[in-house]
Amino acid sequence: MATNIISIVNQKGGVGKTTTVINIASYLALKGRSVLIVDLDPQANATSGLGISKENIIFSSYDIFNKDQPSFTAFTTRIKNLDIIPSDTNLSGVELEIMNLAGREYILKTLIENLGYNYIFIDCPPSLGLLTINALTASTAIIVPVQTEYYALEGLGQLLATFQAIKASTNPNLEILGVLLTMYDKRTTLSNQVREEIFKYFNELVFETNIPRNIRLAEAPSFGQTIFEHDKWSKGSKAYKNLAKEILDRTKPN
Ligand SMILES: Nc1ncnc2c1ncn2[C@@H]1O[C@H](COP(=O)(O)OP(=O)(O)OP(=O)(O)O)[C@@H](O)[C@H]1O
Ligand SMILES: [Mg+2]
Repeated sequence: MATNIISIVNQKGGVGKTTTVINIASYLALKGRSVLIVDLDPQANATSGLGISKENIIFSSYDIFNKDQPSFTAFTTRIKNLDIIPSDTNLSGVELEIMNLAGREYILKTLIENLGYNYIFIDCPPSLGLLTINALTASTAIIVPVQTEYYALEGLGQLLATFQAIKASTNPNLEILGVLLTMYDKRTTLSNQVREEIFKYFNELVFETNIPRNIRLAEAPSFGQTIFEHDKWSKGSKAYKNLAKEILDRTKPN
């Protein structure tokens, strides 16, 4: 059975992409799925958020795009069943380096499509450049986290245009797995209004689970921990657990 390859994508910064990747990937790994995270963001927040330090990295996502790469090895995290291809800052130059290569959109796909994991989650950078295009070309589906705020819908048009362009060119089978509301505060009318607004556009594609604004989620990466290690009784932990279950329901078992 083919791997579910899921990009977490939104070109808007700080909407909860990396927090979502770390916590759903680790939850599915805890539940016995074999999971790989690809950190495709030069900021390397997923890498540092899992407590991985630079000295230990022998193969990074930069090496994926480097022709003279050594053979691929995923980094085994301390969490059972969870591997990562960590990022490093050199990745920021890669879009220029590969710009004129034939097949530049397929480089990531070629490496990850037959690795045999149950799930691969790709943490995208906050842009719609060639790295994100590589991610979307390699993916079976995308999850779009949207911060619950007044300007939530702004920029989604551009993201959807990119999604359609990818479907029309490098990846006709790409799907939207779901739209996720993050930093949600159920006590405010604004949050409820934003949810309604997003629902009008995306209907049942909107995940039932909202991720609440929760300080424990914001703290966890500074300890290099997932929310399940940092505070498994927190609201954030419960929300990501519920989201992971929805993801299991929406994806094919493999
Ligand atoms: N539900 C939440 N409640 C509180 N803080 C959160 C929540 N989700 C994320 N944060 C915090 O908000 C900031 C942005 O989150 P995160 O890094 O996950 O976003 P991102 O979309 O990956 O950002 P970037 O576009 O820079 O990669 C981080 O400091 C993170 O710890
Ligand atoms: Mg991020």
